[in-house]
Parts: sequence; structure tokens; C-alpha cells
Amino acid sequence: MPNNSLNQKSLGAQAGTASAVSALQENLPAHPLPPLQDRHGRTFDYVRIAVIEQCNLRCTYCMPEEGVQFKEKDMVLRTDEILRVVEILARMGVRKVRYTGGEPTVRSDIVDIVERTVKVPGVKAVHMTTNGLLFPKYAKALRDAGLFGVNISLDTLKADKFETITRRSGVDKVLESIDLAVELGFPRVKVNVVLMRGFNEDELLDFCELTKDKPITVRFIEFMPFDAHQIWENGQHFASAADLCGQIERHYKPQGLAPSQGTRTEHHMYQVPGYAGKFGVIPAFTRSLCGNCSRIRVTADGSIMNCLYSEAPYYLRDLLRRGGTDDDIVALFRKAFDDKYKDGFEAKKAASVAAKINVSDISRSRASMTQIGG
Ligand code: GTP
Ligand code: 5AD
Ligand code: SF4
Repeated sequence: MPNNSLNQKSLGAQAGTASAVSALQENLPAHPLPPLQDRHGRTFDYVRIAVIEQCNLRCTYCMPEEGVQFKEKDMVLRTDEILRVVEILARMGVRKVRYTGGEPTVRSDIVDIVERTVKVPGVKAVHMTTNGLLFPKYAKALRDAGLFGVNISLDTLKADKFETITRRSGVDKVLESIDLAVELGFPRVKVNVVLMRGFNEDELLDFCELTKDKPITVRFIEFMPFDAHQIWENGQHFASAADLCGQIERHYKPQGLAPSQGTRTEHHMYQVPGYAGKFGVIPAFTRSLCGNCSRIRVTADGSIMNCLYSEAPYYLRDLLRRGGTDDDIVALFRKAFDDKYKDGFEAKKAASVAAKINVSDISRSRASMTQIGG
């Protein structure tokens, strides 16, 4: 049976006090710390760590053909540094870890990173967001390593449009990766579709229909201005969650469309009776999900981000390399989340004040999603 992060934790360490023994049995950290919270009453128990900025695609909503100014290798967190951060966060109550990029499978030690993360006391589930192109090369090893969830990005089902959007070929490979992830029994398999007017809006229902036979979750993500100044312009390609939900509801109502539960980003979820999977919309730009935020982000070059829309820097990598103690690292995370604004609108406004530019121009200062990690 494949190793699974939820049910196969190593219990091999030595016994200590009664509470340490009980922590060990439940595979919880032996030295827990108070949870990471903010002044708005939110608790942060989910970390998204970008492991690389590079990518083997060039999606037009993410970066230019020539790529962006990727950080040099020694500026990117090393595996031991990533693991140290995860261990400290797990002591602060983080239970879910997602590896993103760039494209995480472009990092050659990705299986090792996942395998070691699964074993960290306190970590309940390790997930990955991938574009699916190299996924088949590592899929079995990742499953055996205990990876729990795979989110695969795919914005069109058509080969020519795939080339227009990603500037590369490979739609068939990505579709195979979705099927392979299901076959290998990953407990969560999701498809991320960035829905853009004038690009792929006409495929909304085709994507919903994928869930008829496949036990997957399809999520339509609102387009955000983190596109390295590519196609956002004045937002003319933006399709709102309200609009997408309206289209879905109008089409499927006669079939008895039912609301469904999802994760905290999955603000609007639906299931058609008899369908194997479900689908929904992530209001990433309209940000109605912020009140429920539970996310900590660490960029590939080791900065903590307390919000997708924040530009305030918290230099974790420098602290790690300066010999920062665990207490110093805990304090930096606490500072970052003490500073967190109520929502992504306020974070963006604060970023514009700090940069001395108009709030309407701030989206143009933030580079590519590949640098944020999604
Ligand atoms: P699940 O854990 O499966 O719910 O995945 P996820 O939605 O957290 O992760 P994924 O990497 O698949 O992210 C999908 C997209 O959702 C991201 O790229 C963003 O576009 C959007 N998203 C994720 N987290 C946030 C957030 O905190 N705020 C906003 N505005 N959008 C987010
Ligand atoms: N707007 C919305 N989503 C984006 N992603 C990348 N760039 C953008 C953008 N500008 C998505 C990817 C992937 C996830 C991590 O982020 O498609 O599914
Ligand atoms: Fe790569 Fe993802 Fe950016 Fe596309 S969206 S270029 S797959 S990092």
C-alpha cells in the first residue's frame, strides 16, 4: 500500500515524558508552541512554500516568453532550510503544507522534499500544485513518498489554445497526468483553471463536464494582475466569480445542482447529482475569502508573505543563514502575521502607500505569480 501522510507516520523515536509519548503516538511535535494567529482572530495552519521560481511553461497570465528575472540558485531556499521552516511551523500548529513554484517538478529533489516533509511531526498532509507536464516522471515516487493532494493547472482542453496560453505544447500530457493522479489513488486530485475572457471562457462547461466521470475537483480561479505585465492591462480579460457562478447555476439548475463544501479558497462549490467529482470558483481577485484566510506563504527566495496581495518583506532566508535560532524564526513569523491586514484590499492599499504609488497602479509593480508561488 502506498505510504500516506494521514495514516503512516513514523513512530520510531525514543519515549520521554507522558505528554511527549502521547505526542509521539499522534505524531505531534514534542515541543508545541502557541498557534500562529493575527489580530483579526484568524489562525494560520496552512503553509504554501514555493520551491523554485523556474517553470517549463510560459503562461501568458504569468510571465513573458523570455521568463522573468529568476533568482540565482543560492538565493533559493535549500532543502534543509525548507525542512527546518516546516518543522518550526508544525510546532506552531501548521498541519497542511503545499509545495508550489514556479513548477515544483523542475526541482530535481522534489520527491526527497515531500518524503521528508511527510515525516515531520504535526504535518497531516502534504500537497503540490503542478502544471502536470513532468508529473508522470515523479508521480509514483511522490505517491509512495506520501503526497496527499495534487492540484494540476490546466486552462484549456484544446491543443491550439494550450499553445496560445502557455506558449508551449502538451495538453495531452497534462490530461494524462490528471488520469494518472486518479489511477495512483492520490486522495485529492484537483484541476485549476484560470478563467479569462477572450481566452477560455467558452470552455467553462466543458471543464465542469470533466467531473461527470472523474473523481476530481475542478476550480475556476479569477484572473489576478500577477502576470508580469503581460495581459492584465485594464482587467478586460477578467471574469468575476459572480459571473462564473451565474453561468454555472443557469446551466446546471435543471439537473439539480447542489452546493458543496470545499477548502477555504473554494468559496463557491457545486456538485451535479450523479457526477463523480465537483467544481467551483475561487474568488481570488474579488477576495470574498479573506475572512477565512489560513495561509502562510514562503517565496522561493525565502521571504514570508502574510497575504497574496502584500508586498511587505520578511526576510526569512537571511535569518536562517545568519544563524537565527528557532525562537528568532518563530518571532519573524509572529511579526509578519501581527502585521497582516484584514483583507487583500487593505494589503494592496498598504503596499501602494509604501511604494508611494496609486493603488490602481500597484498591480503593475508586483511581478509574476511564479515569484509568489500562487
Ligand atoms: P486547496 O488546498 O486544494 O484548496 O488549494 P489552494 O487553492 O490553496 O491551492 P492552489 O495552489 O491550487 O491555488 C489555487 C489558486 O487559488 C492560487 O493560485 C490563487 O490564485 C488562489 N488562491 C490561493 N490562496 C489564495 C489566497 O490566500 N488569496 C487569494 N486571493 N487567492 C488565493
Ligand atoms: N491569476 C490567477 N491565477 C494564476 N495562476 C498563475 N498566475 C495567475 C494569475 N495571474 C495560477 C496557476 C496555478 C496557481 C498556482 O496559480 O494557474 O493554478
Ligand atoms: Fe508556470 Fe504556473 Fe506560471 Fe504557468 S502559471 S508559467 S505553469 S508558474
